[in-house]
Amino acid sequence: MEAAVTSNLNYNVEAIRNDFPIFKQEIYGKPLTFLDSAASAQKPQSVIDAISDCYSNEYANIHRGGYFLSQALTSKYETARETVQNHIQAKSSKEVIFVRGATEAINLVAQTWGRANLKKDDEIILSHMEHHSNIVPWQILKDEKEFTLTVSPIDDRGNFLMDEFEALLSEKTKLVAITHISNALGTITPIKDIIKAAHKVGALVLVDGCQALPHMEVDVVDLDADFYVFSGHKMYGPTGVGVLYAKEELLNQMPPYQGGGDMIRSVTFEKTTFNELPHKFEAGTPNIVGGIGMAAAIDYMNDLGFKNIHDHEENLLHYGLEKIKEVDGIEMRGQADQMAGILSFTMETAHPHDIGTILDQDGIAIRTGHHCAQPVMDFMDIPATARASFGLYNTTEDIDRFVDGLHKVNRIFA
Ligand code: ALA
Repeated sequence: MEAAVTSNLNYNVEAIRNDFPIFKQEIYGKPLTFLDSAASAQKPQSVIDAISDCYSNEYANIHRGGYFLSQALTSKYETARETVQNHIQAKSSKEVIFVRGATEAINLVAQTWGRANLKKDDEIILSHMEHHSNIVPWQILKDEKEFTLTVSPIDDRGNFLMDEFEALLSEKTKLVAITHISNALGTITPIKDIIKAAHKVGALVLVDGCQALPHMEVDVVDLDADFYVFSGHKMYGPTGVGVLYAKEELLNQMPPYQGGGDMIRSVTFEKTTFNELPHKFEAGTPNIVGGIGMAAAIDYMNDLGFKNIHDHEENLLHYGLEKIKEVDGIEMRGQADQMAGILSFTMETAHPHDIGTILDQDGIAIRTGHHCAQPVMDFMDIPATARASFGLYNTTEDIDRFVDGLHKVNRIFA
């Protein structure tokens, strides 16, 4: 990628940082340099206020009470669903299922659509850079259903290999389950082309959009995704809430996931009939406040403007890729042609965990390890990487401090 740092006058990052209370504190007497948004993003005051208001002034269970508070909060929760629907440009709010996070969404699809449809001799294709949450649910089901799991390759730079993928597709392929942006490498996959190719052989496509939603506009209809999953906490919202988007006709065909309150129409000991979408897939009291907090996060990002966020983070990525070259002994592990704001690397002098520990002493938070993507570490023949990931609040000064920290690692381990 070419270096191109331009300033965006529409984007006042210092003012934006003031929206995030966490940046008011120091860590070990140093300013907090938070470079781990790919693991979980910080929360703006408006999200914290939405959560606090809900518990302080608006709280009651939803979908169950005829009284004022319950009705009002039901309406707010369903409006939050519409906020998500509009955000991903889904055709209907019935296609937005609130779940615990992307992990639960994938398990839901595996245990409902997968259990009902997959059989021996069928095939699911994953990419080599999937998160464990998009591998293990399929392996659990595979042990029972005996279908084949095929891995679509990447190259040494972390590019998804489209030709090789297309060569794998056949009438046996029933599902392609693939990330939109790799959390371990930062690769942006050619997801629209992947979906188009998969549909040609009649396969459905599940997209893990966890790393995409915080950084880019996603239009599930334009992509023609069959399933698209994401988590609230990576997009500046609360933990414990996420979304399964699926096409309405698929959701209608799928059996329910969990049984319990809210997902039923009527229950007798002889027979239960199920509620309409989306409630059929939301058994029990949902994460009411989580859904509302997630909508507040979407409103916050929309107020800033997705193009502005995207341009800002792209500038940070270009700046970071150039700046990190100043450090001796760095090996970049994610160098795909299309990348999001993630620098995944190793150093000759130090193990990733030591890098993380030394940076932490200066208040710099990065993630080190396999990033819940052990197969891609195995592919690169390394146990771990150090990973700096950018959010809408990061600055070039954050990157300067991070790179100074890497020089310090070299000095200590030289
Ligand atoms: N999947 C998260 C990460 O990439 C936790 O760090």
